[in-house]
Amino acid sequence: MNYRLIDMKVFGDERGHLISFEKGNNCPFDVKRSFYIFDTVPGIVRGSHANRNSEFILIAISGSCRIKIDDGKTQEIVELNTPHKALYLDKMTWKEMYDFSYNAILLVLTNTKYDEKEYIRNYDDFIKEVRK
Ligand code: TYD
Repeated sequence: MNYRLIDMKVFGDERGHLISFEKGNNCPFDVKRSFYIFDTVPGIVRGSHANRNSEFILIAISGSCRIKIDDGKTQEIVELNTPHKALYLDKMTWKEMYDFSYNAILLVLTNTKYDEKEYIRNYDDFIKEVRK
């Protein structure tokens, strides 16, 4: 499978906690774009696409959600429920985000600028392309 969970080093002291991302340390790519998903409506599914060029790091900085990951051969479900863990997803990975808790904030980092042309939004097209 094209994913891994990264245990984040937490810098904590009497003031609270801080987590850092840095290329070559805990982040495998140069971050070109970042976005966050919040105010998610109960019961909905986000994502449902694969990306030809984008790699992603996902962190539930607040609350929790589940991510269904599919590389065209195997499907797995990962739960993110702590800011201490990051999920790395390689390019050409189908992903669906769901079961967002109330007040969940999902932070996403990626190595690309937004380009709709690199999205595969139809699952059958993804399967054809990934199995080539
Ligand atoms: P969408 O890809 O549907 O979000 P998700 O992956 O969570 O299901 O994106 C929602 C809208 O936001 C869509 O109109 C495209 C736009 N968008 C950007 O303009 N820039 C971005 O970096 C992202 C991720 C989305």
